[in-house]
Amino acid sequence: QPHIPLPELALVALVGASSSGKSTFAARHFGPHEVLSSDHFRALVSGSEHTLDANAAAFDSLFYVAAKRLERGLLTVIDATSVRPDDRRRLVDLARAHDVLPVAIVLDLPRGLLEARHEARGDRPFSAAVVGRQQTELRRTLRGMGKEGFRHVWTLRSPEEVEAAWVTRVP
Ligand code: CTP
Ligand code: MG
Repeated sequence: QPHIPLPELALVALVGASSSGKSTFAARHFGPHEVLSSDHFRALVSGSEHTLDANAAAFDSLFYVAAKRLERGLLTVIDATSVRPDDRRRLVDLARAHDVLPVAIVLDLPRGLLEARHEARGDRPFSAAVVGRQQTELRRTLRGMGKEGFRHVWTLRSPEEVEAAWVTRVP
């Protein structure tokens, strides 16, 4: 379904393995201040977006800022892999705490494509096998996302579907 009618006040989780195109999608469809990316917060707290042991500090900071935005009634997009239910639970809890709708846009692309993109960009400090495992974890848990609390889950399953997607805001 190419049309994504987002509630005006939502916490939007962009969900997908590394190299699935979350940051590209975010830059295309959302304003720069609407998007909170885990890479960006990792860089802010540690000096590099690749410092893997800075995850806890990065996510604490990201969630702090997300909460401030939601308090003001600002739509907020979380650009992090969020392929594990435990990672997504924290997003649902945050949205509920601020009475906003948790929704998800899932980029569920073929594993071979993700691995090819990963090799082509060459800027990630982990192997293509890690990307494959992220994709497997997403596939395993994707059907449960409604039960996790997401009010809408839009799933894009090919580069063509991602390309065709258009986002609007509904009051
Ligand atoms: N890319 C592409 N075609 C698209 C979207 C992305 O070829 N339609 C490429 C980008 O140029 C980039 C790579 O795929 O080299 C990953 O895209 P990105 O948006 O950075 O993916 P993320 O999901 O944000 O990856 P990460 O979790 O590692 O930040
Ligand atoms: Mg990214």
